[in-house]
Parts: sequence; structure tokens; C-alpha cells
Amino acid sequence: MNVLLDAATIQTRVRELAGEIESDYPPGEEIHLVCVLKGGFMFMADLVRAMSSRVSLDFIAVSSYAKSTKSSGEVRMLKDLDSGLQGRHIVIVEDIVDTGLTLIYLQEILRARSPKTLRTACLLSKPSRRQVDVTVEYIGFTIEDHFVVGYGLDFAEQFRNLPYIAVLDDES
Ligand code: IMP
Ligand code: MG
Repeated sequence: MNVLLDAATIQTRVRELAGEIESDYPPGEEIHLVCVLKGGFMFMADLVRAMSSRVSLDFIAVSSYAKSTKSSGEVRMLKDLDSGLQGRHIVIVEDIVDTGLTLIYLQEILRARSPKTLRTACLLSKPSRRQVDVTVEYIGFTIEDHFVVGYGLDFAEQFRNLPYIAVLDDES
């Protein structure tokens, strides 16, 4: 595996993103962060530790249907949020935006819950893979079309624990 983004590089960028996010909201207003499980967990944990605003957290889990039907953008809700979103400032916290199908679906279902604002933060973006025009206000790093693991991202549930992001070789 080749390291694409080392731990220090990620930490520096996540702190910058935390600052960018906080500066976009009126002082004193709570920011409600919605982490997309499982991949977003490490990004979420570091992001919130770099924030000093009033924040609250929730977690959602979705899974894509079988690969063959993935282009439909259909996703299955595995775990819904604990609390409602009405009138709140929501930031979706996601690991990576690839085709964009998962995210566009999530944005749609969360927008239907009438948040005051709805924005999205993704640690990684692979723009060359995009199938839908999805809006992501905060992007950590734009990367080439490689399958990456670590810092929350998995291959068959492995490698989520790595503190860095690596490109998974074909032979590994
Ligand atoms: P999308 O719906 O195609 O944008 O897929 C988004 C989801 O696919 C992400 O939230 C990840 O869970 C997964 N994914 C996409 N690319 C990668 C990758 O390079 N490594 C690990 N997971 C990935
Ligand atoms: Mg994900």
C-alpha cells in the first residue's frame, strides 16, 4: 500500500476545515453534525475536536444496494438519526464522494426534514468518478481515481483504523 495522505497532512487539513465551517455560521448558533457511518467516524472525531463552536452530533448509516443497481442511487437506511432536523444548521460529515449517488440521496432525505441550513463536508472527493452534480461545500482533498483505505475508509471492513490514507494495490 502506498501512503497517499499521511496523518500529519490529514490533521492539518481537518483543522483548516473546522475553521472554515465555523466561520460560515453566525456566532452562538449551534451546528449539528451528521456523521455518515461507518466511513465518516474518524473524520467526524477529529473535526469536532478542532471546533470550539456549539456543536451537537448524530449518526446515520446507509448502505448501497447491490453493485449492479448502484447506478440507480438507491440506498437502504440502516440506522436513522436520533433527533429531528427542523430549524437546525446541519452539516453532513462523509468520508468520500465518489459517484455522488449516496450523498445526493442523503441530502434529499435530510432536506425533506426542514433544516435551517444543510451543508456537506467530505474528507475526500474523486471528481473523475462523479455521475451526478452533487454540492459539497467543504472538501478536504481532491484525489485521482484510486481505491483508497484508512482513516475510516475500508476495503471489506479492513483498514478503517489506519491513521493515514493509502492506495490499495491490486495485489494486496
Ligand atoms: P458514491 O455513492 O459512489 O459517491 O459512494 C460513496 C461511498 O462509497 C463512500 O461513502 C464510501 O463508503 C465508498 N467508497 C467510494 N470510494 C471509495 C474508496 O476509494 N475507498 C473506500 N470506500 C469508497
Ligand atoms: Mg461512506
